[in-house]
Amino acid sequence: MTNLLFSGKNIGKLHLKNRIIRSATYEGASDRYGFPAKKYLTIYETLAKYDVGMIITGFSYVSKQGKAMQTAQSGIDSAEKIKYFRDVTNAVHNYNCPIILQLAHTGRQTLEIETGTTPVSSTTKKSIYFREKPKLITPEEIKEVITQFTNSSIYAKESGFDGVQLHAGHGYLLHQFLLPETNKLSNEFGIDKSTGFGTKIIDVIIDNIKEKCGNDFPVLIKISGNHDISNNYHSDKFENLIAFLDSKRFSAIEISYGTMDYPLNIFRGNLNLDTVYRYNPIYKTDSKIKRFLSEQYIQRIIQPKFKKFTRMYNLSFAERAKKLTDIPIISVGGFRSGNEIEFAISKGKADFVSLSRPFICEPDFVIKLKNSGINYESKCKNCNECVFMCDSGKVTACYTNNKN
Ligand SMILES: Cc1cc2nc3c(=O)[nH]c(=O)nc-3n(C[C@H](O)[C@H](O)[C@H](O)COP(=O)(O)O)c2cc1C
Repeated sequence: MTNLLFSGKNIGKLHLKNRIIRSATYEGASDRYGFPAKKYLTIYETLAKYDVGMIITGFSYVSKQGKAMQTAQSGIDSAEKIKYFRDVTNAVHNYNCPIILQLAHTGRQTLEIETGTTPVSSTTKKSIYFREKPKLITPEEIKEVITQFTNSSIYAKESGFDGVQLHAGHGYLLHQFLLPETNKLSNEFGIDKSTGFGTKIIDVIIDNIKEKCGNDFPVLIKISGNHDISNNYHSDKFENLIAFLDSKRFSAIEISYGTMDYPLNIFRGNLNLDTVYRYNPIYKTDSKIKRFLSEQYIQRIIQPKFKKFTRMYNLSFAERAKKLTDIPIISVGGFRSGNEIEFAISKGKADFVSLSRPFICEPDFVIKLKNSGINYESKCKNCNECVFMCDSGKVTACYTNNKN
């Protein structure tokens, strides 16, 4: 019997040769101005060569103001970038692999030192992780953000990307708009009382992208199934969000978890504070007393909210979404063996599975599943050094497996 995980299926007009997607993963492979370097191309050419069904790039900023604190993030904020990204898409397309550019604006989840301007958000409340007070976004600035997402999609299309993914999860700007906890706007971009979400900005962005890039240009979206900012979210409202995305006919919905307020809940697994204190621009310190106080804060306030790593930890959200829409659903988080991917697909809980850390650890993970059988287990042990090292300015890599 053939395994379903190796069977082909479409996302919009794109045909994927299998159900295994590389989930967006910050590359740490662009220059100070967001131009992708040769190593960026190498990461994606390698994954394509090793039979990944589809690639979603790491988050790429739509404007300097929406740049993350990681210095080597890519940006798709100007037409100048097109020819550099085109080299990347050409290399990937040699292997019959679609590649999607993830578009993001960080909103309040960044540092002024990196963006050069005060972060904007739909709230003036700081993220407890970034600790910088954002400025309330004005109607004019919202229009600018909409234009930036639209222009970035045009540049992505001209660069040869097969589609874009809007990053509306993990607490970034579009997610800030969605949540009542972080959307305090009283204009049309505020919370829609009937759904409980601030969907208007996404509504306008997708319409604009469709108008400029064509109705058949794939636009995917990544959301968080739930978060830990407050206790009373999603359980009853998640269905409303999926109904909204269904009405906008997104090409696929990828369902992750959380915000950067409790970053480890996006990933789950080990926390190595030594690496955090060494590289993280917010927490970096040589002072023993500052480190002690910060550790106390993390241990008492943050750590109790950390969730344990379990296999397939977001699959229940995908399963719920599958019941509400015929749009392809991608589940991400904690898939570590072919058996788990097969389980999710064959039980109809998700249409596709996407993975991040297993591909950092073993870019040839799909080939190994094919050669060794779907019992094959990823070597990734969720040490999360790849996550904490994002702040180092170095290329994203596995720091454990490679030493074995
Ligand atoms: C080093 C690293 C960088 C990441 N960068 C992004 C990113 O740019 N955009 C995004 O949506 N998610 C990002 N993620 C989250 C992953 O896409 C994924 O949601 C999460 O790691 C859980 O999947 P996994 O268990 O397969 O690693 C990143 C994860 C890692 C490990």
